[in-house]
Amino acid sequence: MHLRYIVVELHGRVRIEPWGVEDAELLAGISKRAFDTDIEVGAPSPGGPPGYDDPEFHVRIMRYLECYKTLLDDSIVGGIIADLRGEEHSVLERIFVEPELHRRGIGARAFELLWELYPGVRLWTLGTPEWNNRTKRFYEKMGFVQVGWDLGDPGWRGRWYEKVMDPSRPYAMARLGELRDGMRSVTVEGVVVERSIPRAVRSRSSGETLTVANATLQDDAGRVVLVLWNDQIRQAKVGDRVRVENGYVNSYLGVTQLNIGRGGRLITLI
Ligand SMILES: CC(C)(COP(=O)(O)OP(=O)(O)OC[C@H]1O[C@@H](n2cnc3c(N)ncnc32)[C@H](O)[C@@H]1OP(=O)(O)O)[C@@H](O)C(=O)NCCC(=O)NCCS
Repeated sequence: MHLRYIVVELHGRVRIEPWGVEDAELLAGISKRAFDTDIEVGAPSPGGPPGYDDPEFHVRIMRYLECYKTLLDDSIVGGIIADLRGEEHSVLERIFVEPELHRRGIGARAFELLWELYPGVRLWTLGTPEWNNRTKRFYEKMGFVQVGWDLGDPGWRGRWYEKVMDPSRPYAMARLGELRDGMRSVTVEGVVVERSIPRAVRSRSSGETLTVANATLQDDAGRVVLVLWNDQIRQAKVGDRVRVENGYVNSYLGVTQLNIGRGGRLITLI
């Protein structure tokens, strides 16, 4: 009873506001302390996601992502970062709360406030490491359902979650047959029905040798060529059902092809 009272009381004292350059140092400190506790919830080694303890990183990402500080009364107690490339689909990139204030409903409230800021978003997605038993509980409590795996890097397994904000207004995914050159922020699903033998190509910008393969992705209304690079190749096996989030479409030698790109993700659906 007493604990419940505290949670309800905090709820109304939490707000989120865009963070500024002047907040970066403080936020990097909170982020470091928050992610350093991952070792208690399953992390195989100390550390955190890229740039988690670096003030410069927290300045840089303001250019690309929607970055909010979480305030409890007037004190900064956390941060929350979203990628809003699509108008109706958004990705939660990161959330962290000062460890001393964990488990008081602040993370959940920050998340709800973010949803309220973007009422047009119908689908929220996010990834979290398989080993993290805290975020699994947190996101599932927030109504997220695991739809697949992000197997992006060797040795990495991330659960991929989604939340449809209003089941009566689901996010309408594009159909593969409708993809056209120039489309951006494309989220589609299909089955890998073919995959070419990988070939080596030299990067024009860096000079390094890369491996590329073409897969054919099919849904019930059409097909498209999906370009796979390096580690993505072993991730999309014939017969797998996959989702590409935030991909882009171009045309190569007259063939329309779907690319995952740096900001996109390839998810193996379950
Ligand atoms: C994940 C994180 C942001 C959650 O913030 P928080 O303010 O502590 O979370 P809340 O108090 O709002 O928790 C809401 C619900 O999540 C679940 N939850 C949160 N922490 C949990 C834990 N340690 N164990 C089990 N369930 C937990 C509970 O269901 C909780 O509701 P309850 O307390 O009523 O049971 C926080 O733990 C954190 O900063 N972690 C380190 C950074 C991180 O992993 N970020 C996510 C990846 S980007």
